[in-house]
Amino acid sequence: MGVSDRIKALADMIAASPIAAVVSDPRLKDNPIVDCNQAFVDLTGYSRGEIIGRNCRFLAGPETEPDLTSLLRQGIVARRPVMVEIVNYKKDGKPFRNAVMVAPIFDATGELEYFLGSQVEVIQDASARANPRRKAALAEIEKLTPRQREALKKMASGKPNKQIAFDMNISERTVKMHIADALRALGAPTRADAIRLMVEAGL
Ligand SMILES: Cc1cc2nc3c(=O)[nH]c(=O)nc-3n(C[C@H](O)[C@H](O)[C@H](O)COP(=O)(O)O)c2cc1C
Repeated sequence: MGVSDRIKALADMIAASPIAAVVSDPRLKDNPIVDCNQAFVDLTGYSRGEIIGRNCRFLAGPETEPDLTSLLRQGIVARRPVMVEIVNYKKDGKPFRNAVMVAPIFDATGELEYFLGSQVEVIQDASARANPRRKAALAEIEKLTPRQREALKKMASGKPNKQIAFDMNISERTVKMHIADALRALGAPTRADAIRLMVEAGL
């Protein structure tokens, strides 16, 4: 894949998602955001121009829990998907509880290429947190066939189609088909939505 194809694939991954999402480039200094979707602009109140080029920690503030920031940092360093519900701030200074998911995306040679981040404002109070989301996500994933689930699980761990094809001993075309069918079954508009669902389900 050439550079322009990769940029297009990246934009396609989040552009059509109704869930706020960003993509960061860990090859650049301080892992800055290189793309975000309209839902992220709507959620945070910042314009695209204020977002691109910054590390995502600009959403943190005085009440942000340091132990949760630390969990995010550890996930990023270890290159594994991580999800926390952390206090963040909108541009107008209003705090909100952000169920943020960060997941690595690897290229066909196994190199870390990007991080996908997605953000959902959590309305429930502390006692109602975490479990319902996990149950709902698991119920959704029950709709998939075992092969679809396997392909999606590998996708959510950041593997490119080529690697998934190799792991499952099927063609890349079949991988794409399984993933497209899975997205349809889940009603997930983009790969980013499906990755988020898998991480929410703890798979
Ligand atoms: C793609 C991506 C999205 C992120 N989204 C958020 C977010 O929405 N809110 C947040 O508080 N941190 C988010 N982070 C985490 C921060 O960017 C940063 O990694 C974290 O604050 C820990 O690093 P620090 O201790 O250097 O600040 C995200 C990270 C990445 C890579």
